[in-house]
Amino acid sequence: MIFRQLFDATSGTYTYLLASRRGGEALIIDPVLEKVDRYLQLMRELDLKLVKAVDTHLHADHITGLGALRDRTQCITVMGEQSGVDVVSMRLADGDRLGIEGLSLDVFYTPGHTDDSYSYVMADRVFTGDTLLIRGTGRTDFQNGDARAQYESIFGRLLKLPDETLVYPAHDYKGDTVSTIAEEKACNPRLQVTSVDEYVALMNGLNLSNPKMMDVAVPANMRQGLAQAEIARRGWAVTAEQAQALLGCRDIALIDLREKSEREKHGTIPGALHAPYADLRENITPGGMLHELAAATGKRLVFYCAFGERSAMAVQAAQDAGLATACHIHGGIAAWRAANGPLAR
Ligand SMILES: [Fe+2]
Repeated sequence: MIFRQLFDATSGTYTYLLASRRGGEALIIDPVLEKVDRYLQLMRELDLKLVKAVDTHLHADHITGLGALRDRTQCITVMGEQSGVDVVSMRLADGDRLGIEGLSLDVFYTPGHTDDSYSYVMADRVFTGDTLLIRGTGRTDFQNGDARAQYESIFGRLLKLPDETLVYPAHDYKGDTVSTIAEEKACNPRLQVTSVDEYVALMNGLNLSNPKMMDVAVPANMRQGLAQAEIARRGWAVTAEQAQALLGCRDIALIDLREKSEREKHGTIPGALHAPYADLRENITPGGMLHELAAATGKRLVFYCAFGERSAMAVQAAQDAGLATACHIHGGIAAWRAANGPLAR
């Protein structure tokens, strides 16, 4: 396995790059905008293809690299289902799995620092975001933070992981890089409480000043820019209502770009073909399944995904590959469901 812990000294942020092998797919957790060039260079050097970029929560102390990584690699951007961030193209919930080639992470909803905080568990390690830090815990006094919820996330979820589990947080300001669940149970001063009320009192008594970057970072992180706005401007989008009118039409092919788990959980449009976004490049180049389908039948490709972000990038790629009639459903399955479109399970 390839595992890199990268550091942004300005914000004290740790970013994690994961891949199962050289030459394979990669995942990045909590990238920082100013370090995007460094990540891309490292991935080139290790011959990795970035397929997913994940933020553990909405950050207040740095601007996320999610939007820039999406624009430069066409990767999938991932956050929790509570996230209102526009750039997100895949939203996960507690109990889901986050996968790339050769790696699978269990998704834990661990609110408290923010109401959109998630932790990701992979075999011997856990990425705790700002929920559990080394000898500390993330503040709970803004961004819908909740000390009571954080107590439950830490004591009820994270500390129940095996003692030897490695703890990799999103930040450290003291120079520590990694800890273990056992070490934090024993030595983390915030965790030496005997009740939830004691923890809440401790957290509510911290009186911290706001992060320097907060007034810049939070609005910037909420609005990274939508890929689908530009696609709509070019006339390559249909609304969910227009798409319903096309259902059953012989000269279109609906293409579902989501992953199998998303299709099973949220349902799919009846009659749609399944062609996951991760395989898009090979599918739309000459000889690829979608390229040949369009060439042989003259059908118009109508892509869709969860929220319209992956499908917007797919339309651009298909247009670039010469599939001039390709379009997508603006807003994805979320818009389709809101318009009462039929769904098959
Ligand atoms: Fe944070």
